[in-house]
Amino acid sequence: MNLDFTQFIPSMPYILKGILVTLQIVILAGILGFVLGIILSLFKISSIKILNWLADLYTSIFRGTPLVLQLMLIYYGSPQIIGYQIEPYTAAILSFALNSGAYISEIIRAGILAVDKGQQEAAMALGVPYGKMMWDIILPQALKNILPALMNEFITLTKESAIVTTIGVMDIMRRSYQVGAENYSFFEPLLIAGLIYYLMVITLTFLGKALERRMRRSD
Ligand code: ARG
Repeated sequence: MNLDFTQFIPSMPYILKGILVTLQIVILAGILGFVLGIILSLFKISSIKILNWLADLYTSIFRGTPLVLQLMLIYYGSPQIIGYQIEPYTAAILSFALNSGAYISEIIRAGILAVDKGQQEAAMALGVPYGKMMWDIILPQALKNILPALMNEFITLTKESAIVTTIGVMDIMRRSYQVGAENYSFFEPLLIAGLIYYLMVITLTFLGKALERRMRRSD
């Protein structure tokens, strides 16, 4: 195997700039997806049937079709949906947030159901209003238990973000591919991209573990 990384050294800053683009998409989509996930999970456990149904339908659509298709539908469909062409970057954040919300809602729903029923009964017996009970008593306990699953979702999001390349977002993947095209050699820049993604995932794993330890301190 002959590998020559030296010819790619001048291109390194260009590739590395993609980290910021990837991070921005993942962080924004992660936050939006998380908020959406909380709302959908509350819909799912609600006693109002139509809300259950809407949230289930939402999840089945976003989980039942490929993310890359959702991304392209939102990007290329925006002129027909909202009347103007949105930026690839916006389409990326939107589609990832909408997709991740579907997965996160299931994670949170499972977390809420796993919290002992006695907690809710005690809160109700004490006359704690529903919103306050959810926010102050149930969700914090649920979140602690689902942290590993949430971390997993953010890791998936980080890696899946590479598909934004298909609509022209200048992320790590696209930049590496471009550098490969310019040098008529793809192997090395793609290996560099692989290493960057891997390091990002390792960092996320590490942060997740630290957060988990921090949250378990009160046990
Ligand atoms: N490749 C999968 C798809 O296209 C990934 C879905 C995203 N997964 C996630 N946990 N947000 O359906």
